[in-house]
Amino acid sequence: MTKSFYLTTPIYYVNDAPHIGHAYTTVAGDVLTRWHRQKGEEVWFLTGTDEHGQKIMRVAQENNVDPQAWVDRLVRDSWKPNWENLNIANDDFIRTTEKRHTERVQKFLQSLKDSGHIYAGKYEGPYCVGCEEFKLPAELIEINGEKCCPTHGKPVELVNENNWFFKLSAFTEKLLEHYRLNPDACQPESARNEVVSFLEGGVSDLSISRSTFDWGVQVPWDSDQVVYVWFDALLNYATAVGLTDSPDSEGGKKFARTWPADVHLVGKDILRFHAVIWPAMLMAAGLDVPRKVFAHGWLLVGGEKMSKSKLTGIAPKEITDHFGVDAFRYYFLRAIPFGSDGSFSWEDMSARYTSELANDFGNLASRSAAMIEKYCGGVLPALSHDSDLQTALHNAVSKADSAICALDFQGGIVAIMDFCKKVNGYVTEKEPWILAKEASNQRELEGVLYNTAESLRALAVLLHPVMPATCEILWQSLGAHEKLGELSAQKISDVATWGQLPEGAKISRTPVLFPRLETSA
Ligand code: ME8
Ligand code: MG
Repeated sequence: MTKSFYLTTPIYYVNDAPHIGHAYTTVAGDVLTRWHRQKGEEVWFLTGTDEHGQKIMRVAQENNVDPQAWVDRLVRDSWKPNWENLNIANDDFIRTTEKRHTERVQKFLQSLKDSGHIYAGKYEGPYCVGCEEFKLPAELIEINGEKCCPTHGKPVELVNENNWFFKLSAFTEKLLEHYRLNPDACQPESARNEVVSFLEGGVSDLSISRSTFDWGVQVPWDSDQVVYVWFDALLNYATAVGLTDSPDSEGGKKFARTWPADVHLVGKDILRFHAVIWPAMLMAAGLDVPRKVFAHGWLLVGGEKMSKSKLTGIAPKEITDHFGVDAFRYYFLRAIPFGSDGSFSWEDMSARYTSELANDFGNLASRSAAMIEKYCGGVLPALSHDSDLQTALHNAVSKADSAICALDFQGGIVAIMDFCKKVNGYVTEKEPWILAKEASNQRELEGVLYNTAESLRALAVLLHPVMPATCEILWQSLGAHEKLGELSAQKISDVATWGQLPEGAKISRTPVLFPRLETSA
């Protein structure tokens, strides 16, 4: 049995519609999973929505609707269409209000109770509903004399309740040991350091239930309490693939094939939940912990985290309507080192769109097709082999593969786009339009055109995870599908093998891959 490469995104709160911060994480996950699929691996890619807790309950109340109706509408009208628009190829979509989830959460919780990891206690302290998080007094900032959450800038609330507690503190040493032995388990480096020093400071047990409202999963042995929303939410990664199902059942087999997760992709705002609480929950249950938690940086607006709560979100559609979906998918991963914060700038995106996508990539494709049409009647000439190009391609593939597998999307994309630049340089240097003036140059001309088309074949494969629709158009235009099959079936490990496009392939002109931008008024 081969284990799937299992990648998850956070399950997002459906208090409002998605913005480009959510899209940033999910697109990154989509690119990475498409890359692994093209490496020939079994892949499972999960995303979904976090639908319980006070934050959701309150926004529904403010809108005079039932929380279930609220989340149903947002998932149907905003979240799912948004992922479709961005061409996200997730294998599953989990909602925490689904029965498959709530039932498994209850079973899991009961088993932790039975094994002595849960006890009754009293919680008293500050809580931020925006984060859905218990806060330490030392973390809070003062705004107008009020104690506020540093992330949301809003006053915290005081919680004073009898709750059920999870013995989180018992796992401090084991977690530290885990991160010492597996530096890869929390990345980037800055995130791991943060987690390690947090753990070294000591952690308290965690209140995992609430009794003052009822929008949540009921605690199985105590009908007055609902499960703390994060405890419920974190479990999605495992409930979605069959946690708690018996080993010989469908779900149990899925779990064995899928768990542990290879990558939990998250923003740095929710690092501690994923790198402290979640692995401790798994350790308590005797399950494997995730292989990697990767915390990327924030998209900022005016120096602050773009946020639904603060209404500073830019809807992905505002950008895709102007630049197209593939340019959106490309831009954020190309422009911002994964792990660092970054700002969206209309100017920077326009500049990169024009120079990297329209000029370097799009023009290369259209020039190549136009010349093959003009000089070779639209038919790919005989195989030719430029060893410089091949070496460059070889290096690009190996660089891109190791960068992308390490979640250095920028490094991976740059390696591919450097190869694209190299091909442009080749065409400029060989000047096929000059060669075409002398009939005696026909062989050489054909060689240049073959090498260019073959380079584009490789670019279509390598950029497909990032820009699937555009690369598909290019693949069609190269007439590649007839001999080579589907673009999505092309393997990263084969891409540098020269001479795959067959002589005689019908090259067709395509619509312009990256049309000139409308100048906005
Ligand atoms: O935290 N920049 O959901 P959430 C980059 N439900 N990424 C951003 C971002 C920004 N400005 N804003 C949001 C929750 N994100 C919980 C998660 S998981 C078991 C439960 C992305 O709707 C980023 O991935 O607040 C961040 O971690 C996530 O959305 C938070 O989404
Ligand atoms: Mg948030």
